[in-house]
Amino acid sequence: MSKRQLTLTEPFKIKMVEPLRVTTEEYRHNKLKEAGYNPFLLRSDDVFIDLLTDSGTGAMSDKQWGGIMTGDESYAGARSWEHLESVVKDLTGMPYILPTHQGRAAERILYGILGGKGKVFISNTHFDTTRANIEFTGATAIDIVYDEAQDPEIDLPFKGNIDLEKLPKLIKQFGKENIAAVIITVTNNSSGGQPVSMANVKALRKICDDNNLLLVIDGCRIAENSYFIKHREKGFEYKTYKEIAQEMLRLGDAFIMSAKKDGLVNIGGLLTMKDEALSLKCKNLLIISEGFTTYGGLAGRDMEALAIGLKEVFDPDYLHYRIRSTAYLGEKLRAKGVPVVWPIGGHAVYIDAKKLYCHIPIDQYPGQALVCDLYLKGGIRCVEIGSVMFGKYDKNGQLIPAANELVRLAIPRRVYTQSHIDFVLDVFDDILEMREQTKGYRITYEPPFLRHFTALFEKN
Ligand code: F0G
Repeated sequence: MSKRQLTLTEPFKIKMVEPLRVTTEEYRHNKLKEAGYNPFLLRSDDVFIDLLTDSGTGAMSDKQWGGIMTGDESYAGARSWEHLESVVKDLTGMPYILPTHQGRAAERILYGILGGKGKVFISNTHFDTTRANIEFTGATAIDIVYDEAQDPEIDLPFKGNIDLEKLPKLIKQFGKENIAAVIITVTNNSSGGQPVSMANVKALRKICDDNNLLLVIDGCRIAENSYFIKHREKGFEYKTYKEIAQEMLRLGDAFIMSAKKDGLVNIGGLLTMKDEALSLKCKNLLIISEGFTTYGGLAGRDMEALAIGLKEVFDPDYLHYRIRSTAYLGEKLRAKGVPVVWPIGGHAVYIDAKKLYCHIPIDQYPGQALVCDLYLKGGIRCVEIGSVMFGKYDKNGQLIPAANELVRLAIPRRVYTQSHIDFVLDVFDDILEMREQTKGYRITYEPPFLRHFTALFEKN
């Protein structure tokens, strides 16, 4: 191979295509207004490049589609379940494997059992559904990433790490008997898709052992995290991505996975654990709410595709392309002068909207303004991860803002080519040109939980 920097090429050929619809800015203007300036409420047919999420939006391989045809749809003891169970046991080293229809179903089951009033969960950063499932039980969810990691610009290799100094203080403050679990999210989605180091999880394991605490790994992007460990953490250069994931997962007491990410499937979730008594409680809830223990809300074909996806995701060519193609977008945006969370994470590029739109006050949601502008200018859909998603109100109805006002451009797996991404980069030239004219938004409707999904806005 040439020593020159080669174009990053997709390590796959395209066998089936899904047409995209090109629309005008005027058309999009009307559609966005109809959607209450909330892109979650747009029709996907009106979106050109959909970077709303990397969850369940990936393309399956020919082998996975083959698995769809051979899936065993038996209610109990299906062949496809046995295949999935063996793959997940090998990956996690955990004996009790429960399938669920997606990640939040696993969260509802586990945190429903562990949570309740007076209980406390501590995490590097709880994802929004994780926090909602915990708070729904009456328990409290506390985020503790390192303070420096909140700075979008500091260049550190593992900005997803949990703060190991704050943790013992919280254990003391709340009492270990009240800590329901410590949850380490890899990669750390809500704080920029940043990776977590093996050293951090090992040290966390020790603290959990010393205090008899349950350690849950929320590992829906465990393969992407393994890529960063291999390339950034000493001692892992010669291990395979799968070996790194296996080593990390063996440090946990339980593992929750939304399989819609690194499972490379469009639906699915997993809940696995080491403790038999806990697994029996979880199985009861699984049967009541998801389905029997050998399908848990999934069709046999879904389990077959997931079993194959969990092997494919550790392919070195795939992972290299995956991480480098996300970095391609982030590095080019940064070179244009767009403030991005640095370094670039695994599944998404996060833009610092507070910095890009420094003239828009936080209570007018600069992130939402960017999300709307990207749709208007390019038909690009993405999500605000700031005070719309995480903001709260104080007693006087004043906004308590989130730590950052980010906008996430999440990259679906194996879906868009480099020219789609180059188009996104072109649209940012317009965004930069019109940044001073952009105005903020106010919320006209919001539900009590997960308000970003259905809130409605008006332009100021
Ligand atoms: N945990 C993390 C870290 C996640 O990123 C997600 C989903 C979940 C749990 C819940 O899984 O969607 O299968 O129920 N994240 C998606 C996203 C929705 O867009 O980042 P789910």
